[in-house]
Amino acid sequence: MARRWRFAGSYPEVKLKCRICGSKAEVHLRSHNIALCREDFVKFFERRLLRTVRRFRMFGHQDRVLVAVSGGKDSLGLLHALKKLGYKVAGYHIYLDIDGYSERSLERVEAFARMEEVEIRVEGVEEALGCTIVEASEKLRRPICSLCGTVKRYLMNRAAEEFDVLATGHNLDDEAATLLGNLLHWQEGYLERQGPVLKEGDGFRRKVKPLSFTAEYETAVYAFLEGIDYIVEECPYARGATSIFYKDVLGRIEEKMPGTKIRFLGGFYKFRGEHLKPMDVPLRLCTMCGYPTTGEVCNFCKLKERLNSRTTESEQYISKK
Ligand code: AMP
Ligand code: FES
Ligand code: ZN
Repeated sequence: MARRWRFAGSYPEVKLKCRICGSKAEVHLRSHNIALCREDFVKFFERRLLRTVRRFRMFGHQDRVLVAVSGGKDSLGLLHALKKLGYKVAGYHIYLDIDGYSERSLERVEAFARMEEVEIRVEGVEEALGCTIVEASEKLRRPICSLCGTVKRYLMNRAAEEFDVLATGHNLDDEAATLLGNLLHWQEGYLERQGPVLKEGDGFRRKVKPLSFTAEYETAVYAFLEGIDYIVEECPYARGATSIFYKDVLGRIEEKMPGTKIRFLGGFYKFRGEHLKPMDVPLRLCTMCGYPTTGEVCNFCKLKERLNSRTTESEQYISKK
C-alpha cells in the first residue's frame, strides 16, 4: 500500500514558522524538532546529503558515481540532488519485467532522464539471466524477492565496473529496518558489514548509501518539492515482506518517540566503527564469469546453471512424452 505523507500544513492546529527565515513552515521534521519552509527544507536536505557524503568519504567531485535507480523517490531524488550538487553522475536501471510494475518504473526513469538530461543506462534481466525473474522463481520454486536480490546485486556490481563508486537510494527507514532484523536474528556477519559505505576491493567498486540518515518521509517531500515524477506503488512481490513489517514497527516507535530511528542507526554505526571489524573473506574469481566471489562459482552463475539444468530436464521430459 502506498504510504501517505503529511505536510505541516495538513495539521489544522499547527501554525509553525520556518526556523530559518520565519515565513510559513510547510515541513515539520519531528525527529529534528524543526519546521521549515519549502526552500529551506530543500537546502536542509541537500546540506545533510553533502555532509553524509563528506563525513563518510563516500566520493569526491572527481569521482564518477553510478546511481542505481529503481524509479522510486529515494533513488531518483538522490540522482537529482547529486547532480545539483555538481557530482559526476550517471544512472543505472534494471528492467525486472515484473507484471506492469516494471513498465511503469521504466517510464518514470526514462522521463526523468529526458527532463534532467542525465544519462541512465537500462539493462534487462532477461538478457542477462536467460529468462525473467518471475519465470526463474516458478522454475526453481524459490521466492521472487531472494532471486531478485541476487540478480540485482550482481548486475549493479558489474555495471559499476566502469565507474568509481556505486550509490544506492537506501534511506534511514530501510537501514533501521535492516538493522532491527539483523539484531533480532543476531546476524553477526551482516551486522559487521552493515554501514553507509562498503569498501571497494577484490574487483568490487565501493558501494555507498548517501541517504542513510535521511528519513523516507523527507525523501518523499524532497522529490515532490523538486518536481520529480516517481513511481509511488511498491513492487507487488514486496507486499507482506518482513522488512515492511519492521518499518511499520519502527514507525510506531518513532511516532511516540521522535528521533529514535536516527539514534538507533547512528548509535549502531558508532558502536560498529569502534568495536566491530568485518572479517576479511578471501575472494577469488568465478570460474564461469570471472566475477569476484567467495566460492568457486558466483551466486548468479549458480542460478543460471540451475535454470539451464531445469530447462534441459523439462525438454527431456517433453521429448520422452
Ligand atoms: P529496494 O531494495 O527496492 O528498497 O531498493 C534499494 C535501492 O536499490 C534503491 O534505492 C535503488 O538504488 C536500488 N534499486 C532497486 N531496484 C532497482 C532497479 N530495478 N534498478 C536499479 N536500481 C535499483
Ligand atoms: Fe525485486 Fe520486487 S523488486 S521482487
Ligand atoms: Zn559468475
